[in-house]
Amino acid sequence: MTASVKGFSKLSKTQKIDWIAQHYTHDPEATKTILRQYWNSDLELQRLHDEFIENTLTNYYLPLGIAPNFLINNSYYAIPMAIEESSVVAAASKAAKFWETRGGFKTKIIGTEKVGQVHFIFPGSYQKLTAFFTTIKGNLVSAAKTITQNMEKRGGGITAIELRDKTHLIANYYQLHCTFETQDAMGANFINSCLEQFAETLKAEAQQYSLFSAEEKEIDVVMSILSNYVPRCLVRAEVSCPIANLQEDTAISPEEFAQKMIQAVQIAQVEPFRAVTHNKGIMNGIDAVILATGNDFRAVEAGVHAYAARNGSYRSLTDASVENGIFKFWLELPLALGTVGGLTRLHPLVKLALEILQKPSAKELMEIVAVAGLAQNFAALRSLVTTGIQQGHMKMHLLNILNQLGASTAEKEVLINHFKTNTVSHNAALEALHQLRSS
Ligand code: HMG
Repeated sequence: MTASVKGFSKLSKTQKIDWIAQHYTHDPEATKTILRQYWNSDLELQRLHDEFIENTLTNYYLPLGIAPNFLINNSYYAIPMAIEESSVVAAASKAAKFWETRGGFKTKIIGTEKVGQVHFIFPGSYQKLTAFFTTIKGNLVSAAKTITQNMEKRGGGITAIELRDKTHLIANYYQLHCTFETQDAMGANFINSCLEQFAETLKAEAQQYSLFSAEEKEIDVVMSILSNYVPRCLVRAEVSCPIANLQEDTAISPEEFAQKMIQAVQIAQVEPFRAVTHNKGIMNGIDAVILATGNDFRAVEAGVHAYAARNGSYRSLTDASVENGIFKFWLELPLALGTVGGLTRLHPLVKLALEILQKPSAKELMEIVAVAGLAQNFAALRSLVTTGIQQGHMKMHLLNILNQLGASTAEKEVLINHFKTNTVSHNAALEALHQLRSS
């Protein structure tokens, strides 16, 4: 049944749907119906979405939820989260509520440096290349002036260009390692445009450089591209309170709770199998806000995990301590985010999410996102070291199970009530539904 096709990109959306339904699904008419069901009736809005990507067939919905009561640096935030996983928004909300009465979250921007590199091959010595680089460095910057002038007016631009010798890794391999300040933009387009201009200037200047041999004049640029690893575009989020104030509705004492939280973090610092899941929990919060605000979660994910492994082994992004009776829990992570450019002016829900967040600068968004990650980790660890994760997670997942089982609205109401005092599982829900229907 499957097939290949030429010129698919040139087909209309309807033709693309017909083709995929015909060749790749068992019930073409049902496929067409589903795909069209998810179109927006506002044709202008639909066209906007169609043009975000290529070969668009329909829209793929994710729920957009809200986690209220985040007290961050003494201001309240309600944080929009786009995510498909149940219990994440509830967990963030619960952590926000917990810390609201204990001083709230405190944040700090440690740096905002973005990175890009021109990777090239030069068949000569580092000394000779260094002398050349020193001569032409100013020209690299001035030739990129048309690209950088607007960013400079906003206080950003190129902050450094460094020549790096990488010949110990690959023969004749060198880099221009460049850093940028991109203010409220994530900066990918700006950085890539600058880098491609640097590459052009580098090649042209090499041709003119009289101290290079004919072979050396032919600098071979392999690629020019930003790096999503931004260890100096860093934000810290923190919560702290006297141990006694950790007391809540859990069965364990605040001292035992603090100790178990610290042990949980320590385990994630030394044991990569645990660290990955620990950080996944953090990314539940981070990705959901990144998606809601139209940022690039793939870039953030790649950069964050590289940062978690920066010392040679993969470890927890959060830390915890108890000193002088004060429990402290914090997170430090790299986030290259934008609140202008990209989808921020195009996607109506992204615009709304940013409005709900009070139109944050990129730095403020870094702080909010880091807080969402810290809150998420606190909630997950709190469950893990007290009740276990399943109790709360399954409580939130109950509606998904009931929907899967085809429960009616009235049945759901009865069963939600029933499971307030009973443990949720797929089987328990199935049995309770059978019992309800037979009674
Ligand atoms: P609970 O104590 O049963 O909730 O917690 P509650 O009914 O007593 O309500 C307390 C507050 O929780 C509410 O306050 C809300 O803030 C929030 P209120 O609004 O009533 O003033 N809350 C909700 N918010 C929105 N909708 C809801 C809702 N229910 C409670 N329906 C809860 C239940 C799930 C919050 C708790 O058990 C929890 O935080 N669990 C952790 C869940 C979690 O981490 N989920 C992530 C998915 S699991 C995972 O992927 C990561 C993991 O593997 C990471 C790791 O291993 O580190 C765990």
